[in-house]
Amino acid sequence: MTGRIARVLSALTVSSVVKASISWPSGLSLPPVPETYPNLTACVNAPLTYSCENTTAIANTCCSPTPGGLVLQTQFWSTYTGLEAQGQLLPKNSWTIHGLWPDNCDGSYEQYCDLSRQYDPSPSPSTLPDGTVVPAYTGPSVETFVQEFNRYDLLAYMNAYWVNQGADNPSFWGHEFSKHATCTSTFDVACYGPDYKEHEDVINFFDSVIRAFKMYPTYDMLAAAGITPSNKTTYSLSQLQNALRSQVGATPYLGCGHNGTVLQEAWYFHHVLGSEQYGHYKTLDSTTISTCSTTQGIWYYEPTPSSVREVQ
Ligand SMILES: *[C@@H]1O[C@H](CO)[C@@H](O)[C@H](O)[C@H]1NC(C)=O
Ligand SMILES: *[C@@H]1O[C@H](CO)[C@@H](O)[C@H](O)[C@H]1NC(C)=O
Ligand SMILES: *[C@@H]1O[C@H](CO)[C@@H](O)[C@H](O)[C@H]1NC(C)=O
Ligand SMILES: *[C@@H]1O[C@H](CO)[C@@H](O)[C@H](O)[C@H]1NC(C)=O
Repeated sequence: MTGRIARVLSALTVSSVVKASISWPSGLSLPPVPETYPNLTACVNAPLTYSCENTTAIANTCCSPTPGGLVLQTQFWSTYTGLEAQGQLLPKNSWTIHGLWPDNCDGSYEQYCDLSRQYDPSPSPSTLPDGTVVPAYTGPSVETFVQEFNRYDLLAYMNAYWVNQGADNPSFWGHEFSKHATCTSTFDVACYGPDYKEHEDVINFFDSVIRAFKMYPTYDMLAAAGITPSNKTTYSLSQLQNALRSQVGATPYLGCGHNGTVLQEAWYFHHVLGSEQYGHYKTLDSTTISTCSTTQGIWYYEPTPSSVREVQ
């Protein structure tokens, strides 16, 4: 942990948040420059190499996710949330976000890498393999971080698409940040420079997760191939995989429960050129074998109607 921070600091030459110093003709409306992102100026001359493909070339860990360069964008398919009474509903015609994970190049992974940024009320695991205890977070929820930055647009998107099951959404977002983003070098606090504003890394991670999620409209890709949720008919694993592969160029991991017969998860694997925030994601075949049955039909269940709402 300390080793990682020291490594980042020594490699670091970025110093601050890039501020808009661009001028344009009045009357021309351009999207605002985001207030919360790392200064990537020092990455401009970094070697054009994908994470995990030449790690000796990656000297500045703010410029490319290192060592966690096998990046997974993970999604869920659920039929209920368990918190319908509180208005926590699934988006109609969409999978939901799980997270953005920095696996090591060999598929192993680190978790809870910076306990000074521990915002997970229910750490899982609560003790790391090396015996380190991850204390439960009891402070204000990460939802308040997003509100402090006035990112109500982001919050609305997260509540629509980053939906938890069995507990409230913000605790899930805090879990994903603290377990995974703290192990992703491009979100290290040091990458934000001396003008770092507390929690801007959290907002920046949430924006990055959504950017990656939007690359993979799993529901639409399956529907376009004639695969829609049904409580009457099942699909084969190869039908599901072929439909997705035909659009993303690689085979994602598909996860099933109930002895491999109920579709629940999709994980898209990548190497990333540049940062997770802005860089290019190269989609790769899953390095994890599917838990879905290759011999039995797979249920892609229709959600419970009262668990779903229309979202934009
Ligand atoms: C960004 O980093 C570059 C060099 O790494 C530095 O010259 C520049 O001043 C920084 N920008 C800001 C706004 O701090
Ligand atoms: C990896 O990067 C190093 C340092 O930039 C370079 O010397 C080496 O040739 C690269 N190796 C490959 C296989 O591209
Ligand atoms: C799971 O599937 C295997 C192979 O089809 C079968 O032998 C086993 O009994 C099943 N287990 C359950 C809990 O259904
Ligand atoms: C479809 O089946 C699942 C699993 O049994 C159930 O939870 C869901 O409510 C069903 N959906 C509809 C529309 O019947």
